[in-house]
Amino acid sequence: MYNIPGQTSNTPAPSKAKVVAQVDPASAASEGATAAHTVADVLAHSQVQHVLADLEHGLVGLAPVKQRVRDIAALLVIDRLRKNRGLAAQAPSLHMCFTGNPGTGKTTVALRMAQILHRLGYVRQGHLVAVTRDDLVGQYIGHTAPKTKEVLKKAMGGVLFIDEAYYLYRPENERDYGQEAIEILLQVMENQRDDLVVILAGYKDRMDTFFSSNPGMSSRIAHHLDFPDYSVTELMQIAQQMLLELNYRFEPGDGTALEDASVAFEAYLQLRMRQPHFANARSVRNALDRARLRQASRLFAQTDKAHTAQDLSTLSAADIRASRLFATASAP
Ligand SMILES: Nc1ncnc2c1ncn2[C@@H]1O[C@H](COP(=O)(O)OP(=O)(O)O)[C@@H](O)[C@H]1O
Ligand SMILES: [Mg+2]
Repeated sequence: MYNIPGQTSNTPAPSKAKVVAQVDPASAASEGATAAHTVADVLAHSQVQHVLADLEHGLVGLAPVKQRVRDIAALLVIDRLRKNRGLAAQAPSLHMCFTGNPGTGKTTVALRMAQILHRLGYVRQGHLVAVTRDDLVGQYIGHTAPKTKEVLKKAMGGVLFIDEAYYLYRPENERDYGQEAIEILLQVMENQRDDLVVILAGYKDRMDTFFSSNPGMSSRIAHHLDFPDYSVTELMQIAQQMLLELNYRFEPGDGTALEDASVAFEAYLQLRMRQPHFANARSVRNALDRARLRQASRLFAQTDKAHTAQDLSTLSAADIRASRLFATASAP
């Protein structure tokens, strides 16, 4: 389809912008916190510790990311104390960039960040709106500004998470409407930074290229967090944690004929990591989902057996080994 300059088609398609988390359940810092003069007071009034503890213990690995989040929380707490002492303060710039491969926890950490920003009184609501280029950029002239503004309106008071943000910029197309979205974002990032935090996410190399051609965007991003790939050990811990949450477990082996299901799963991961489209923790979740399907089929076939709670919650090595991946890997 062609865009005829000056001609607008009827109306832009409605935005599919996804509100991932509704308003943070905790109330914002406010009242008590405005009188606080100690870090402990601010922490007590804000309930931010729960989020920090959740981040610390709920997520496997990510040590450098967790450290950066704690640093940002510290900055916000001290900023609160400064305000309470009447020290002139412009809200610190909090726009961020999360780089890393798929499934490394960027969206998960962004959700926690939204809660931290809310509990420390930086945004009014603490919800997160996750979007991609298609939610911001229209296909026809005149559609981009209303789309971008609608998304910004939805995100106001919380965090706007732009996944694969570099797709906003398409240098090969000089009349690309992405540029229009970038300019509107830049204005709002500057003028309304006390009530909206923008997090750009995506692959590190593409983000670097994007920043080098968009210095305006680069200069407004105060915090760069890099999410490393998980090691096999971490992926195994993530798997164990996911199973625990779902009330499943890997069947232990008997040292001889019966293989430990976790050994089979680690062998699976070793193969999966070398495949295209490997997506770290997301691939772990998907693999466990498929193993649960196989377990269900296995139990379903035993029509007359009274399945115990243990039967129902156990994934066997065979449930893992039945993956197609093992078949293709051993093929000549
Ligand atoms: N460190 C971690 N510990 C436990 N689960 C994790 C961890 N990182 C990611 N996950 C899980 O993996 C899945 C993908 O994570 P997500 O945050 O969507 O990754 P990304 O946004 O980087 O693609 C989610 O189900 C999330 O809960
Ligand atoms: Mg994501």
